[in-house]
Amino acid sequence: MKAIVYTSNTGSSKAYAEMLGAKTALPVYAWDDAVKTLDAGTGILYIGWLMAGEVVNLAKAQKKFTVRAVCAVGMTSSKEMEASVRTRNKLPADMPLFMMQGAYDKTKLHGMYRFAMKIVGAALEKKISAIPARTEEEELILTMLRVGGSGVKEEKLNAVLAWYEKGKEN
Ligand SMILES: Cc1cc2nc3c(=O)[nH]c(=O)nc-3n(C[C@H](O)[C@H](O)[C@H](O)COP(=O)(O)O)c2cc1C
Repeated sequence: MKAIVYTSNTGSSKAYAEMLGAKTALPVYAWDDAVKTLDAGTGILYIGWLMAGEVVNLAKAQKKFTVRAVCAVGMTSSKEMEASVRTRNKLPADMPLFMMQGAYDKTKLHGMYRFAMKIVGAALEKKISAIPARTEEEELILTMLRVGGSGVKEEKLNAVLAWYEKGKEN
């Protein structure tokens, strides 16, 4: 694997990509730069933000490069979301997928994204508010939706780092 490639809207996927780059010494490219710089077929680890269950630019990345693993950065990293991300993005069972909680701040959103999240965010807030014993992650999602917040933490890279250390010669 030769590089980390990411797509980020509000900065959390970028933050994870840079932290992972620092830990692995792999070069880190934003999507547009990767397309211009890297050869087709290059082995990459792809990090992208989640938009309605889709890892943004992942399908394009799979066409152009050899994606060895995927990190999906969303509001939730729940098992439920993981299963739906795998199905929605047509990821084969043997494709390593790492879910990471990113940041959310509705004041940073514009246009279509802002409009979409107004509707989805309200429904999500209602759903999570109704859970009687909420996990720490669920509490943070509520805070994110109401006032904004970030779940970006270095320790959330532990699983992908362990995977990388096991097979980095590939
Ligand atoms: C239009 C839109 C749709 C989203 N859909 C999802 C989703 O399906 N699942 C999820 O966990 N997070 C979803 N999110 C939250 C973002 O994935 C989350 O804020 C992420 O951290 C953004 O990453 P970035 O900071 O790299 O742009 C959505 C956000 C927006 C604006």
